[in-house]
Formats: sequence, structure tokens, C-alpha cells
Amino acid sequence: MYICICRGITERDIAQAVQQGVSSPEQLAETMGVGADCGCCLNHACQALAQNLGREPSDYCTAVCPS
Ligand code: FES
Repeated sequence: MYICICRGITERDIAQAVQQGVSSPEQLAETMGVGADCGCCLNHACQALAQNLGREPSDYCTAVCPS
């Protein structure tokens, strides 16, 4: 399933990024561009990140859709 439509990033892509050491929303943005365009994927991306890290979504999910 797509997480970031603007960049074509899927849940699998985020899982692979975590396996390669990505551990924060900022790193997701820097390495993959997640959230760098419209920003509407930030909450969903943060939830996927938290799930892959075995953390609570509330540890990461504070962003809101800017539109
Ligand atoms: S959907 Fe991710 S930046 Fe637009």
C-alpha cells in the first residue's frame, strides 16, 4: 500500500528503510522525500515508521496534513 503518493513510497519501502537504519521522520524525509511535497502522508508515514521500529505511533505522529 502506498504511504506517500507524491513520492511513490510504499509501506514496504519504509520497512526497508528502517532495516537500513532510518529511525525518525526526519530521516525518512531526508533519505526518501516522504512528506517533502504536499505533506499529507506525514501521519501515515510516522505510523508505519513506529510500527516497524516497534514503537508507539504517538512517539512520532504529531504532524498534521497542511492542506
Ligand atoms: S503524499 Fe507524501 S508528500 Fe504528498
